Amino acid sequence: MEILRRIGAAALRRGHLLTEGLAEALGEAGRVLRFSRGLLEFKARPDDIFIVTYPRSGTTLMQHLLVLLAGRSVEELQHISQAAPWFERSLATGALTAEDLERLPSPRVFKSHLAFAWLPRGGRVIYVTRDGRDVAISYYHFYRSHLRYEGSFAEFFQRFLAGDLQYASWFKHTLGWERHREDPRLLMLSYEELVADLRGALERVARFCGLPLSEARAEEIAARCSFAAMKRQEHKFDFTTELLLQRGYRPGSFLRKGRVGEGKLELNAEQQEAFLDRRRRPPRRPDVELRLPLFLR
Ligand code: PPS
Repeated sequence: MEILRRIGAAALRRGHLLTEGLAEALGEAGRVLRFSRGLLEFKARPDDIFIVTYPRSGTTLMQHLLVLLAGRSVEELQHISQAAPWFERSLATGALTAEDLERLPSPRVFKSHLAFAWLPRGGRVIYVTRDGRDVAISYYHFYRSHLRYEGSFAEFFQRFLAGDLQYASWFKHTLGWERHREDPRLLMLSYEELVADLRGALERVARFCGLPLSEARAEEIAARCSFAAMKRQEHKFDFTTELLLQRGYRPGSFLRKGRVGEGKLELNAEQQEAFLDRRRRPPRRPDVELRLPLFLR
């Protein structure tokens, strides 16, 4: 009996690994196909603005700055991505199609972590760099807080050096973009200069994108883009909010009203009757439910 139990457990373990591997491979192929299709269908506009970075280099700060420069504000949004979508990820996951992107008003602002070769031609690009050592530390904390990473920093750092991370190698990414520094459609900025002189960077960005910027507005945007101001509205910038929204969740609606008797008030007469009628006819074996997968989602 024990041997049979062991054989059964081993077979289930193999089956489990196989289905997980298959699901991952299929998921990856689906994302590549959706992204490739989106890329082919995407129509770039001359005033498009792509914010490109290796992760954790100041993307969100630049997103916020540009959304404000373009005359929008996070107050009117649930998440910054609604005004400045993540180009490749939205297409790859199917959250947005090229048609959806076509409906966005100009100037469109996109976030991207793509290498030079994958980004559509047309529009302008702002590439933000950051000291790789700071990126490694920030990315490590992101891996722990958002990607369920449980390793030490020393282990993570080896992976960073080897480019064995999401978005591959920081060295390759930054060097790949650095090669195009002279391209007139590309503006290179560093996180360090953004932090040291946000007003100055803001003016450079506005000039580069051909967007109007008055003294008073520059003052206001710089204040709204300070770390402290953005931290106060962190959920509008946090990737987890974007994920929840894409999956159709509405954050803040789990503890809904907590009232007694809403059903009696809200169900119409027909629904009340259907409910009572169904309750009058109990199932024959209420303690047996064969649809096990429903309980395991
Ligand atoms: S991501 O996940 O790639 O979109 O991350 P990204 O936005 O590129 O980088 C996150 C880091 O940028 C810091 N950040 C800021 N620093 C200064 N001022 C402002 N307003 C600001 N907004 C974001 C953020 O804190 C992350 O850096 P670390 O070092 O982890 O704090």
